[in-house]
Amino acid sequence: MWKTLCAAASAVALTFSALADEPARPVTPDDVARGEYLVSVIGCSDCHTPGHFFGQPDRSKFLAGSDVAFVIPGLGYFFGSNLTSDEKTGLGAWTLTEISDAVTKGVRPDGRMLAPSMPWMNFANLTPDDAFAIAAYLKGLPPVSNAVPAPTGWGGEPPGPVMGVTMPKTP
Ligand code: HEC
Repeated sequence: MWKTLCAAASAVALTFSALADEPARPVTPDDVARGEYLVSVIGCSDCHTPGHFFGQPDRSKFLAGSDVAFVIPGLGYFFGSNLTSDEKTGLGAWTLTEISDAVTKGVRPDGRMLAPSMPWMNFANLTPDDAFAIAAYLKGLPPVSNAVPAPTGWGGEPPGPVMGVTMPKTP
């Protein structure tokens, strides 16, 4: 009986969280155009497209993940992630809310806080409509399968080329 109740309660909780993830409104072509504009002006591609830090961004892998990691002493090595709609290596399985939360709050769906190399503290100032537009644009990007190395933590061998930048402290 107790088990059945728990199962029913978790089903209800699941339904509510699924509803909470529903975008507040449908995506319009204007959202996608606004998102494209913001992504280009903000320069997301610098840290999220391979080749950028070697002076030759690979346009065939636009926003599909960097090939140079930011090194943060004590924390580890962090590659700009694949932002295309690929289900396995990109954001294809993320909801619009999960994407905008990562961009403006620095939280991934699995609860991990993003490293400060991802300047979400600045992006926290985006209006909800602009964050929604960015998420809508990213979800509409063609999928590019490109797995960037997961963060490895501090102390091991760097998983690839790295770049050291001292980031300002999170307020
Ligand atoms: C200065 C470099 C830099 C810029 C500019 C930047 N990012 Fe990032 N971003 C990163 C890094 C590095 C990570 C990985 C951090 C980590 O794994 O902790 C990341 C992670 C992310 C993630 C989480 C994805 C995942 O799979 O965990 C999203 C979403 C994201 N960035 C979107 C954006 C968007 C949208 C923009 C532009 C508005 C942007 N980023 C601009 C460096 C950057």
